[in-house]
Amino acid sequence: MGTESKSPNYPNHIGMIMDGNGRWANQRGLSRNKGHQQGVEACQRVVKACQELDVHYLTLYAFSAENWKRPESEVNALMELLELYLAKETKTLIQKEIRLRAIGRLDGLPAKLTKSIMEAVDATSRFGEWNLTLALNYSSRNEMVDASKAIANAVAQGDLSIEDIDWDTFAKCMYTKDLPDPDLIVRTSGETRLSNFLMMQSAYAELIFTETFWPDFTKAHLEECIKIYCARERRYGLTGEQVHKKKLANK
Ligand code: FPP
Repeated sequence: MGTESKSPNYPNHIGMIMDGNGRWANQRGLSRNKGHQQGVEACQRVVKACQELDVHYLTLYAFSAENWKRPESEVNALMELLELYLAKETKTLIQKEIRLRAIGRLDGLPAKLTKSIMEAVDATSRFGEWNLTLALNYSSRNEMVDASKAIANAVAQGDLSIEDIDWDTFAKCMYTKDLPDPDLIVRTSGETRLSNFLMMQSAYAELIFTETFWPDFTKAHLEECIKIYCARERRYGLTGEQVHKKKLANK
């Protein structure tokens, strides 16, 4: 925690597309579920590493709305792993003062899992400095649909006028309304897609695609990603010259 030479453009929020569990297992002649089990261990490592590296928000893409199309046995195994993770980790999250949130259509998850999530969310709701968010039954497109319905409802009720709708209106209706936008999205396993993860929120995020399979991902890999991120220049539509002037003015 508290890296002494923290760069002004150090990532505050990292989103992780944890990919490669199946291939990791395949390469070892193991079942895909074993790959997911090892994936959970990588989650534990990375949550710990984020705190050690002073990254205050971490969002893990744990189960997409599209993942229901996987074989039933794999879906069930993933639900069980999530349940187990919450049962084992909630104590650690409380001990480390990490606030847990979940984003996605949570009512579409098995009732038992939703209950465990809500209990863990409640048990950590007093914290705020360190934040872990699990994206579960998550899809950016669904999130936009749900936000649009909420906005349409507010208009229909007369609580909002169409002229006043702007991005802020949407941001307040997204599942991520309590989170800052991600600064960095990392996808493991060599795939170079965003796969419906935080599509609107990552409009200005830096993207890093690493070859490492998720079960092999360590603190050292995370450090390397942060190093790459810090060396990049985020311009938000400005020219490089404007960005440099702004940096000098802020010194
Ligand atoms: C992608 O690997 C991974 C997933 C679809 C699930 C991610 C879930 C975990 C890491 C475990 C549960 C999470 C938590 C937070 C406890 P893949 O199966 O698509 O791998 P492949 O592309 O190599 O087949």
